[in-house]
Amino acid sequence: MSGAILEALDLHYTYPDGTRALRGVTLRVPEGSRVAVLGPNGAGKTTLFLHLNGLLRPRKGTVRFAGREIRYDRKSLGELRRAVGMVFQDPDSQLFCASVFEEVSFGPANLGLAPEEVRRRVREALRATDAEDLAERPTHYLSYGQKKRVCLAGVLAMEPRVLICDEPTAGLDPRQTSGLIELLDRIARRGGTVLIATQDVDLAYSWADRVVVLKEGRVLGEGTPTEIFLDEDLLRGADLTVPWVVEVHRELVRRGLVPPDAPVPRNREELFGLLPAAEAAVRLEV
Ligand SMILES: Nc1ncnc2c1ncn2[C@@H]1O[C@H](COP(=O)(O)OP(=O)(O)OP(=O)(O)O)[C@@H](O)[C@H]1O
Ligand SMILES: [Mg+2]
Repeated sequence: MSGAILEALDLHYTYPDGTRALRGVTLRVPEGSRVAVLGPNGAGKTTLFLHLNGLLRPRKGTVRFAGREIRYDRKSLGELRRAVGMVFQDPDSQLFCASVFEEVSFGPANLGLAPEEVRRRVREALRATDAEDLAERPTHYLSYGQKKRVCLAGVLAMEPRVLICDEPTAGLDPRQTSGLIELLDRIARRGGTVLIATQDVDLAYSWADRVVVLKEGRVLGEGTPTEIFLDEDLLRGADLTVPWVVEVHRELVRRGLVPPDAPVPRNREELFGLLPAAEAAVRLEV
């Protein structure tokens, strides 16, 4: 396994009003991996992510980036945030420029890059997020899903080593959701590290390499998608549902249409791949 690019070790965090949001969270994100953090509302996903680029500082425990404990002085935090890009759950807390072009160019322009390089990055980020036609629009009047894509473009334009997205598909229409999943796939295939928080068990199951389940500020389970989503007790304990691919596969096995020892399919294509075998099974029975 490759080395961890980001690590949280025994993080504890209590908000000023006394809410204990993290109660000893340990998380390891291998370089080049796709990690999905799942858990019910209030589990601590956003609070955990805010620690990973230094926006919150743990009461106890440490965060490491590239093997080194992160430091909280201005300069170190600036460097960390260039390397660990964060797309917030709520786009309104991220957007602060008047126009989309300004918003996406703000970060790269502040890196002191040449104007041509800034324009190249902005163009590429807007193309990747299918937001090219929004470039001249005021950010204020964008729809919720458009705002989310512009936020992502702003982070992509910084070309971070780690991309953290808090609920990236929430509020996106089906076409934009699949576009976004393809984009996250492309980033990971090019060797990027992507960490998402999501409520979408189907997405976590078919997209992630590692799944972390949080509840009440603790890690309830951690493993491959198959390990996590075949563990019914864990899913019940974390208020999570079974991904539809697993559910359909289980029913096919129960009806004797698919052999019980075949690997559980990870996605729609693998599931459909089992279906000719199911037809053969039916023919045999006739
Ligand atoms: N600024 C804050 N002040 C006080 N409590 C907070 C604050 N932000 C979050 N909390 C509390 O901390 C706990 C964890 O919240 P967090 O937002 O991290 O959960 P989450 O897993 O991201 O939930 P969701 O799925 O709804 O996004 C919750 O009990 C929440 O009410
Ligand atoms: Mg959240």
